[in-house]
Amino acid sequence: MTKVAIIGAGPCGLSALRSFEQAEKKSEKIPDVVCFDKQEDWGGLWNYSWRTGSDQYGDPVPNSMYRYLWSNGPKECLEFADYSFDEHFGKPIPSFPPREVLYDYILGRVKKGNSKNKIKFSSTVTNVIYNGNNFEVTYRDKKNATSSTDIFDYVIVANGHFSVPFIPEYPGMKAFPGRIMHSHDFRDAEEFRNKNVVVLGSSYSAEDVALQCHKYGAKSVTIAYRHNPMGFKWPKGMKEVFHLDRLEGNKAIFKDGNVQETDAVILCTGYLHHFPFLSEDLKLNTGNRLYPPKLYKGVVWQNNHKLMYLGMQDQFHTFNMFDCQAWFARDVIMGKIKVPDSLEIEKDINKWVSMEEKLENADQMIDFQTEYTKELYTLSDYPKIDFELIRKTFKEWEHHKVENIMTYRNKSFSSPVTGSIGPKHHTAWEVAMDDSLKTFLDQPKK
Ligand SMILES: Cc1cc2nc3c(=O)[nH]c(=O)nc-3n(C[C@H](O)[C@H](O)[C@H](O)COP(=O)(O)OP(=O)(O)OC[C@H]3O[C@@H](n4cnc5c(N)ncnc54)[C@H](O)[C@@H]3O)c2cc1C
Ligand SMILES: NC(=O)c1ccc[n+]([C@@H]2O[C@H](COP(=O)([O-])OP(=O)(O)OC[C@H]3O[C@@H](n4cnc5c(N)ncnc54)[C@H](OP(=O)(O)O)[C@@H]3O)[C@@H](O)[C@H]2O)c1
Repeated sequence: MTKVAIIGAGPCGLSALRSFEQAEKKSEKIPDVVCFDKQEDWGGLWNYSWRTGSDQYGDPVPNSMYRYLWSNGPKECLEFADYSFDEHFGKPIPSFPPREVLYDYILGRVKKGNSKNKIKFSSTVTNVIYNGNNFEVTYRDKKNATSSTDIFDYVIVANGHFSVPFIPEYPGMKAFPGRIMHSHDFRDAEEFRNKNVVVLGSSYSAEDVALQCHKYGAKSVTIAYRHNPMGFKWPKGMKEVFHLDRLEGNKAIFKDGNVQETDAVILCTGYLHHFPFLSEDLKLNTGNRLYPPKLYKGVVWQNNHKLMYLGMQDQFHTFNMFDCQAWFARDVIMGKIKVPDSLEIEKDINKWVSMEEKLENADQMIDFQTEYTKELYTLSDYPKIDFELIRKTFKEWEHHKVENIMTYRNKSFSSPVTGSIGPKHHTAWEVAMDDSLKTFLDQPKK
């Protein structure tokens, strides 16, 4: 029997498990699947952990999510085609749920099946080599402190790429008297109440960590961009300045001449694609971009078609794109999709990479990733979902952010799966301090 290893039981690994389960439901003969996750439970980044640094076994903690994190895009854009929000919650829910609500949703459909039996938890994959015929996958059972090697015909790499922080150094850091941390270790904005905070970066983490600190009572928040400012209309108490030059004592000195006394510096400087368990010939080498090279259809490793990667792109689209990738990978593995010859593969990858390199703004990037996802979608039997509506929703969302960064999460959108419209949430995001599932779903309108 064909054997498949899935590395990671986050959203991507769970999409892969779900894809095989759906084929089995249609009476197709599926391969023998084993999924490994180094955490004690499933859900990947969405499985909140208070821990930072290393876990009780000395393994680096993969989690980067924090308390009070709310979806930064409309939930309608990430909805599963085969399991709607309405089905999971039994009613339409607002468009921007907090983490615990999305975590509940992600797990909802897999809890209904038997995928959990296929996952080895607290098991870190430490080595993968291709021996010319198949893969030798070595994993460490952290609880029992044992190491084993099993043989697989295919490997699906779904270990995420927002777990290993990229940490730059700036002059003066060694002598800084306050706290310096990466957003990977950020857990609770309450820590920064009444503090002056400097945030480095100009992408989603910088935006959200800065807003969180402001929302939970920081005295001031200064965001330093390196290339392009986010340029939102920041509320009083927040500002955006150009690039950190150095720290001098407790002062942050910026390249545009701004000087800010600061208690903490939070590095929202992104993450590394990190695959210490893969041999060099199998290793994807990329930054955070919309079309990492050497992946046919963004999934199949160009140099070895038995190796698949899921979710390695920078992400506008998430869960339903991961599903389309997983369904595609499954069909390649099950022989329903034939991978073309190497010339055709090269041509296809180059086409997408060169289109990506020409993108100039967020709308074009949304179009690019929507086209990519739509193409994958047509290649498998992934159920019906309206990607044109998703495209439109993403663009409206971008424009809402430009209009008002404090209120975009109060907007409503309609589902690309059921058509139902997300009701207005009972509490505006900027004053919603309790992010629990219970409060989000049950609290009556004030
Ligand atoms: C702070 C933050 C907020 C985000 N917010 C949103 C949001 O609001 N909306 C949205 O759609 N997306 C959001 N994302 C994007 C996020 O990348 C995806 O939602 C999703 O979690 C990606 O799924 P994944 O399975 O690829 O990776 P992950 O969720 O990272 O899961 C990977 C899994 O692989 C396991 N693993 C790693 N290495 C090994 C190994 N060697 N052996 C065994 N197991 C291993 C990990 O334990 C983990 O469980 C956010 C990301 C971050 C960092
Ligand atoms: N739900 C939420 O609210 C939420 C919150 C946080 C994160 N997220 C998700 O998390 C993922 C990761 O986002 P991310 O922002 O961490 O990573 P990212 O999108 O890869 O952005 C990295 C940022 O770091 C900056 N940077 C890199 N090196 C730097 C340096 N030496 N000095 C200053 N700046 C530097 C980059 O700036 P340059 O442009 O100058 O290179 C860029 O702005 C995204 O998918 C996002 O959606 C979601």
